[in-house]
Amino acid sequence: MKVAVLGAAGGIGQALSLLLKTQLPAGSELSLYDVAPVVPGVAVDLSHIPTDVKIAGFGKDDLAAALVGSDVVLIPAGVPRKPGMDRSDLFNMNAGIVKNLVEAIADNCPDACVGIITNPVNTTVAIAAEVLKAKGVYNKHKLFGVTTLDVIRSEAFIAELRGLNPANIDVPVIGGHSGTTILPLLSQVKGVSFSDDEIKSLTHRIQNAGTEVVEAKAGGGSATLSMGQAAARFCLSLVKALNGEHVTEYAYVEGDGSDAQFFAQAVRLGQQGIEEILPYGELSAFEQQCKAEMLDGLKGDIQKGIDFVKG
Ligand code: NAI
Repeated sequence: MKVAVLGAAGGIGQALSLLLKTQLPAGSELSLYDVAPVVPGVAVDLSHIPTDVKIAGFGKDDLAAALVGSDVVLIPAGVPRKPGMDRSDLFNMNAGIVKNLVEAIADNCPDACVGIITNPVNTTVAIAAEVLKAKGVYNKHKLFGVTTLDVIRSEAFIAELRGLNPANIDVPVIGGHSGTTILPLLSQVKGVSFSDDEIKSLTHRIQNAGTEVVEAKAGGGSATLSMGQAAARFCLSLVKALNGEHVTEYAYVEGDGSDAQFFAQAVRLGQQGIEEILPYGELSAFEQQCKAEMLDGLKGDIQKGIDFVKG
């Protein structure tokens, strides 16, 4: 299994690469790419950790070499938020970065599973899909917006609120990955019930958790460590699935379009990427209303990505 991380010298990229160096199955390869000159050093640093994961760093002119033969490519390249910024404010900087990187994926490892972390995810995934379509290699079973952070935050916050072990909590989170498009289905959390006020305040906290970090870091960036963990969880599940196990994760993917062209939901992963998109079941009245109110915004975010590529 070869995993490439594009943007590997950044806050997310380094945390993610550390977790993958220590947790990928023996015999895997990890390829680190970044335009920042420190990337070969990050690879050398990680190479001193004695695990059976081969690691190599690639600088800005070596993107093709970083990608060739990859089974999974994760993209945390790009600019993070500063206080006062919305994820959509990152579009101007990050849209072009994702477009260029995905073009190189199409040229060098068109069969790879691609996980987009770069924000605004609602839009950058649509950009990636359009680029892959234009190159004739789009496979909707292998393109993912990584929304795992919304899931792990929900698990952490509910465990904290109820004094439970987070390992025993599963929270479905559907929709998109910004503000009100993030929709945790608290009515479906097994073994825990909430008052209406708790549902409102927890939902609000989960939707604004990224901003909680951005403000706490006071200009020093957005979530990197929790995101590194989230992306590692997603990647390790994907690797397990590609190796023949069935695993379920939440991700922002192209489904049947009944809500929006791209929508975060539970996906059963297998050797060909997404094997099945699982229904999200019945929503409470509150969740139905939240979904109805956010769909136009989500569709607008997706259209922005399509328009960006189609010019
Ligand atoms: P960072 O600034 O620490 O790292 C970004 C890295 O990308 C830098 O090393 C930079 O050199 C590199 N980079 C820039 N252009 C590149 C290119 N063309 N090719 C390769 N590398 C390139 O930022 P951080 O905190 O790691 O965040 C990265 C992205 O992830 C941001 O867009 C952020 O909004 C997003 N993010 C996504 C989350 C999610 O849940 N999906 C959660 C948190 C952040």
